[in-house]
Amino acid sequence: MNNISIACTVNGQPVKAEVEPRLSLADFLREHLDLTGTHLGCEHGVCGACTILVDGASVRSCLMFAVQANGREVVTIEGIAGDGPMTRLQCAFREHHALQCGFCTPGMITTLKAFLDENPNPSADDVRDAISGNVCRCTGYVPIVNAVLDAAREGTS
Ligand code: FES
Ligand code: FES
Repeated sequence: MNNISIACTVNGQPVKAEVEPRLSLADFLREHLDLTGTHLGCEHGVCGACTILVDGASVRSCLMFAVQANGREVVTIEGIAGDGPMTRLQCAFREHHALQCGFCTPGMITTLKAFLDENPNPSADDVRDAISGNVCRCTGYVPIVNAVLDAAREGTS
């Protein structure tokens, strides 16, 4: 099958590529751009590990084709803080021990970045709803919720 040209922005950098029509966005990011912070767990939209931001919205990159990123602004976990210091949310994860193996963490952070942008003063139940599609096998979720509430209290994600 013929490749298709795409042009998008990834973590603030313009990217042009020729991709197979059925290449997933997750595989494009990981295998073509070496952005391996985007993790793949289930590869069918259930675990949330592959969550990234597309035009500011959290999406599952295993469920998008790379060609669907054409003309869009993509942010992965590598671009959340860029070259600067960690965001308040990332610092709160560290302070609250909201990660253990870290496999779910990139998807959690990207999901919660979009969530806090829209809901800067969430309740604990709001946070639980926000991460209800992100599976974590390690933490029991309590420290994650506490980290988000702590970050929100400080007024920046
Ligand atoms: Fe995409 Fe699980 S790898 S949702
Ligand atoms: Fe291990 Fe969440 S920290 S899966």
